[in-house]
Amino acid sequence: MCGIVGYVGKRPAIDILLKGLKRLEYRGYDSAGVAFFSRGKLEVRKSQGKLENVERLMDGSSELFADAHCGIGHTRWATHGKPTTQNAHPHRAGHVVIVHNGIIENYQEIKAELISRGHKPESETDSELFGFLVLEAMEKGQDLVTAVRTSFAHLEGACSVVVMSEREPGKVVGVRNGSPMAAAFDPQGGAILASDAQPILEYTKEVIFLENGDVVVGTEKGLAFFDLKTGAPLDRVGEILDWSVDKIDKGGFPHFMLKEIHEQPAALVDTLNGIMDRVKTNPFPLAAQPGADLLRTAKEITFVACGTSWHAALLGKYWIERFARIPVNVELASEFRYRDPVLAPGALVIGMSQSGETADTLAVIRDVKKRGFKTLGLTNVRGSTLSREADAIFYTSAGPEIGVAATKTFTTQMLAVLLWAGYLGIEHKAPRTSPAGTPNAKPISFEELFHEIVKLPHQIKECLDDPQGMITAVRSAAKQLQNIKGFFFIGRGFSYPIALEGALKLKEIAYVHAEGYAAGELKHGPIAMIDQDMAVVVLAPQDSWRDKTVSNLEEVKARGAKIVAIGGTHDQNLKNLSDFWIPLPAQKDESLLPFLMTAAVQMLSYELALLKGTDVDKPRNLAKSVTVE
Ligand code: M6R
Repeated sequence: MCGIVGYVGKRPAIDILLKGLKRLEYRGYDSAGVAFFSRGKLEVRKSQGKLENVERLMDGSSELFADAHCGIGHTRWATHGKPTTQNAHPHRAGHVVIVHNGIIENYQEIKAELISRGHKPESETDSELFGFLVLEAMEKGQDLVTAVRTSFAHLEGACSVVVMSEREPGKVVGVRNGSPMAAAFDPQGGAILASDAQPILEYTKEVIFLENGDVVVGTEKGLAFFDLKTGAPLDRVGEILDWSVDKIDKGGFPHFMLKEIHEQPAALVDTLNGIMDRVKTNPFPLAAQPGADLLRTAKEITFVACGTSWHAALLGKYWIERFARIPVNVELASEFRYRDPVLAPGALVIGMSQSGETADTLAVIRDVKKRGFKTLGLTNVRGSTLSREADAIFYTSAGPEIGVAATKTFTTQMLAVLLWAGYLGIEHKAPRTSPAGTPNAKPISFEELFHEIVKLPHQIKECLDDPQGMITAVRSAAKQLQNIKGFFFIGRGFSYPIALEGALKLKEIAYVHAEGYAAGELKHGPIAMIDQDMAVVVLAPQDSWRDKTVSNLEEVKARGAKIVAIGGTHDQNLKNLSDFWIPLPAQKDESLLPFLMTAAVQMLSYELALLKGTDVDKPRNLAKSVTVE
């Protein structure tokens, strides 16, 4: 789970590498480094900590890199060995330098063999060893590409590497085998390689996503592709991406996270337009596509996901069960893959992953495919592994999300599963029934529901622009609660997944202990934690569960907790019970309330993180795409 960039061509390489690494920092940022050719010799500059440390190392050595037109760079998320300068990439072995993303599972064996043959690895990493394998192969007379290929055959595990050698200056050789890699022709002559398309987009929109088992060779002349096992030349075709560079800059916001929270309305519109065929007049007019057939014919659905994507999947369960009356399971991919899970005949397994690269989610998709089940993917990244490996794919159109905390990718995932739920409700002619326990609540028709969904982006924008005072209230609560010992987020029904997500966001970016709980579960243990030093964020919008959640509020209030209530603008009773009151605009259908609540909990964690002074976009110990299990 690291970021890799490689460049060869006419442009100044260091500039491209540093800019590219900046765009990939979301993948890991506990150390970084670059290697480049200067007057035919390889130079390496690396440092623990953020990329700025490497930039500082480059200051004052302009004579060294002024003529550098070929190099590789890396930003790391430590797996094997601490995040130190010594363990930072690139790693050098004689005339070879390498950067690596992923895991070499048999590294201990390889290390022992290399040491027995007289090599002296200097780092604690698995990565460094690959350089020695390439060095040995070249010493035996192999050219760089062959040496990379034959050395790669010794590795077990999923990873990607990019390699250069002083013996063949001006050549960058990459391998994709598990961890993602993209490549592009530089229109000015030359080639760029990277872990994803973001470092490339500034130079060209035509990007080639490597397949597993591809070798790519970049030279001043451009790119060539070969099969890793046989060495046979391959044809690879580029895709034109519509992500623009301004979408990957901060655009005037202090943090990417805040920008991405504010981009949610546009991201929702784009996602809706991407999934629906709006020319059709029926409600939930899902565009005809293979994924729609898989959904329609599924007897049962099992979602597999991790983290925030798992929360969106949980909402998917609630919505699909309510609207379509199809059984839905939601599984943590990391648990599912190591159990002996039973799937019903005709079950559809849906992998949800904004990055499309989460190792555990991908492992489940591969495994159930082997067992003969149909798989569907929902991801934000075109060309990602999930998009290639699932039987069919749906995309959210959130655009690039740089902040490590998932925000717009979460709400767009929510929208996608809600649209599926409506589509399936219509396909299965499911009756619109009143929610359990509220026989008098009149459900709106699918037509009306769809019309209300279309209004959501505008309503979220209104919340974020703050005329109703939601953000002001969030800010004030954050200010007064900044020193509180810990938080519970509680909710029932559709609010429960948002309670989980609110707590995750707070832990992730503000490093404050927080737990998301089904409000009805508090009294089964966690209420023992409640005292005047705890805050409880109560998600009690105007829905079928409101009164029950308010009873739970009373229980924690009686034990001294500070109450942050998020509920209907006119809910005076709830307001009176709370210490901090966050008003939520009403919705015609309760199933849409999670979107607005999400904006509130996202902003609460953002404001608390600001007050705590944490690195909002790059929280400690995390990386955006978790390509290790
Ligand atoms: O790329 P994925 O959606 O598969 O990522 C899964 C989790 O790592 C991710 O959702 C994580 O929990 C979020 N970054 C939290 O904000």
